[in-house]
Amino acid sequence: MRDIDVRGKRVFVRVDFNVPLNEDGEVADDTRIRAALPTISFLTEHGARVILASHLGRPKGKPDLRFSLRPVAGRLSALLGREVRFAGDCVGPAARESVGAMSDGDVTLLENVRFYPEEEANDPEFAGEMASLADVYVNDAFGTAHRAHASTAGIAAYIPAVAGFLLEKELASLGMLVVNPERPFMAIVGGAKISDKIGVLERLMSRADCLIIGGGMANTLLAAQGKDLANSLVESDRLDVARGLLEKAAREQVDLLLPLDLVVAPATDVPDRRQTVDPDSVPEGWMALDIGSRSVELFGKRISKAKTIFWNGPMGLFEVAGFDTGTLGVATAVANSDGIRIIGGGDTVRAVNQAGLADRMTHLSTGGGASLKMVEGKKLPGVEALRDK
Ligand code: 3PG
Repeated sequence: MRDIDVRGKRVFVRVDFNVPLNEDGEVADDTRIRAALPTISFLTEHGARVILASHLGRPKGKPDLRFSLRPVAGRLSALLGREVRFAGDCVGPAARESVGAMSDGDVTLLENVRFYPEEEANDPEFAGEMASLADVYVNDAFGTAHRAHASTAGIAAYIPAVAGFLLEKELASLGMLVVNPERPFMAIVGGAKISDKIGVLERLMSRADCLIIGGGMANTLLAAQGKDLANSLVESDRLDVARGLLEKAAREQVDLLLPLDLVVAPATDVPDRRQTVDPDSVPEGWMALDIGSRSVELFGKRISKAKTIFWNGPMGLFEVAGFDTGTLGVATAVANSDGIRIIGGGDTVRAVNQAGLADRMTHLSTGGGASLKMVEGKKLPGVEALRDK
């Protein structure tokens, strides 16, 4: 974005304002809005007319007010300390009128691009219509850069297309993990399901020096080792995949660490009844909902030796007090490390915030799926579509 002249130009900025809203429809977490401020401020300070576009949620290609970006315009106004106008559509007369009324330095937020099925279909005509609103395209939506949609990729075919500051920062931080991590390189992967993260696990097995797996997905690996996890979440249709991953870990001689102990309970809503057991001693009818203290101690020791740490996915049901100790323990160990500490989006960022440790991390990614795709070594369509400097 620094390499082009934006003064007096209409700049279409794709941001990722896919933020959680509370029951009253207000923005519940504005992290992603704050992350876009450097790009927006740079453009307004340089006299551009800033047209912001984003998706919010998955409205399935039709207008649905529950997914309107209007509340985001209000929050963005407050954060920028200037008026942000809201256009009730992202294409058509309403969008054209709003953009036509802009002066240099103005900011307008368009309505949810996913109110049209053409967005996710990456329809060229729809992309061209959005492009016709502007002279230049800036992609700053790292969180959506793994999607080949009209506003993230297709639009770049019509007007000069460059990267915003957030996209640049994310690519630098996560790119380092892919290209040249300082070693030992430790990856910590958690979350519910192995099936969501097979690609990234395979990749990390050949790249990382040590791989910790916790959370629900560890259950499937433990089950593949023949352990009876009782009522725990186990992807029984993925046991072959899990066995394949264990074999690959042995072949690649990656140091793979699974939980040594598990916090179990009869159900998710009775944390007071929790007990800590060995992975092969989960009582009948009970389920694993967190890792135990011996696991936290082992993981913490290894984390302290790493020079680069990438963490994606919680160690258990951290949203429920009583099942959050493992995740918070890992967060503390990562925060205390002297290495580079990179946190990959979504739940993991929420957990780090919950632990009050966000400012102790080197980089908190605004992308969940996008950060995983990147660590997996995959190309991101939203980045590929941009001009090569
Ligand atoms: C995210 O929250 O991961 C991004 O905004 C992408 O959203 P999507 O998974 O609905 O495409």
